[in-house]
Amino acid sequence: MLVSTTSPRWVEVAMSDLDALLDDHAHCEKKAAASALSLIVAYPAHDELVRRLSALAVEELQHFRMVHERLLARGRSLGGDKGDPYARKLLSLARPNRGRLTDRLLLLGLIEARSRERLGLLAENLTDPGLARFYQHLSEAEARHAEMFRELAAVYDQPEAVEGRLSVLARAEADIVANLELSPRIH
Ligand SMILES: [Fe+2]
Ligand SMILES: [Fe+2]
Repeated sequence: MLVSTTSPRWVEVAMSDLDALLDDHAHCEKKAAASALSLIVAYPAHDELVRRLSALAVEELQHFRMVHERLLARGRSLGGDKGDPYARKLLSLARPNRGRLTDRLLLLGLIEARSRERLGLLAENLTDPGLARFYQHLSEAEARHAEMFRELAAVYDQPEAVEGRLSVLARAEADIVANLELSPRIH
């Protein structure tokens, strides 16, 4: 789904402070669960959406718990949520009325796809084999989620409209990611 690749500099910066990275990552997993729940709140009669996103919310909270345990094992507690300018900018691109559901699903899919890419980069570069395996496992899950969001968008909108909109949003995502300051965060 992505039209750009992450700069290798991000990997260096991300791995320079693993405590900060894990803290941010835990908040990302929590927000992934919360976003799934907020779509269920907005579209309660969309049966397939409720079915898939309730399963996703459970899985994302399991990811949150795993990352949280890793933080605790390093002698850290979860810090306050510092917000996520990347996700905020991206989600603000959702159209207000017609097309809103399509956009929200595609934008969450793009966040999953970027997470997949970056967790995969961590898996390739981390020297701690246990942590590298952990990131490999999570990266594969995010790849599945990205695809699920794309499929779900096509359940509620014309497949051509979904793919056309995806190419617009994917270019916008690439611009946003290119202008982010690099820091030990997932995005
Ligand atoms: Fe996750
Ligand atoms: Fe995910």
